[in-house]
Amino acid sequence: MKSDIQTRDDLSKLIHSFYGKIRTNEEIGHFFNETIQDWDAHLEKLTDFWGNNLFGVRKYYGNPILAHLEVDEKFSHSISPNIFGLWLNLWFETLEELFEGENVETLKFRARKMGTVFLAAIYENRQHHQSDSTAQTKV
Ligand code: HEM
Repeated sequence: MKSDIQTRDDLSKLIHSFYGKIRTNEEIGHFFNETIQDWDAHLEKLTDFWGNNLFGVRKYYGNPILAHLEVDEKFSHSISPNIFGLWLNLWFETLEELFEGENVETLKFRARKMGTVFLAAIYENRQHHQSDSTAQTKV
């Protein structure tokens, strides 16, 4: 029987396995492979991020919303709900392959919720861009 996610090592295992799938995914791998220079540092950061989220251990001090606005800009505003859907499918799949229990369900729920928040911020940011360029053409 699988056990629940209980330690930072468990999270690290989850994160390594998940990004292994992400990097080799035909549809969304390139967003990550073309952006992330240092994968070891990225995986460490993401383990901190989820450790903060799940265990309340304050080691991550980044701004994930801003990070995704920048990714959307880098890729010419092409990040769609479908891309988030593919990300979430891989997240659920990896969680279920490795673990089972309450924390698994918590991480599914929280990632889904964050996805909607990130997407809303991305769409709002695009509107600002549109009104910026409209303002510029009016001048
Ligand atoms: C709900 C789903 C997601 C969560 C929880 C999540 C979480 C994160 C976090 C915490 C970071 C680190 C931010 C920082 O540097 O402090 C990050 C970075 C990144 N995310 Fe996501 N992410 C999600 C979905 C996506 C999707 C769908 C994409 C597809 C384009 C994506 C692409 C990236 C990339 C390329 C980076 C690296 C940014 C950089 O280092 O400059 N993420 N993500």
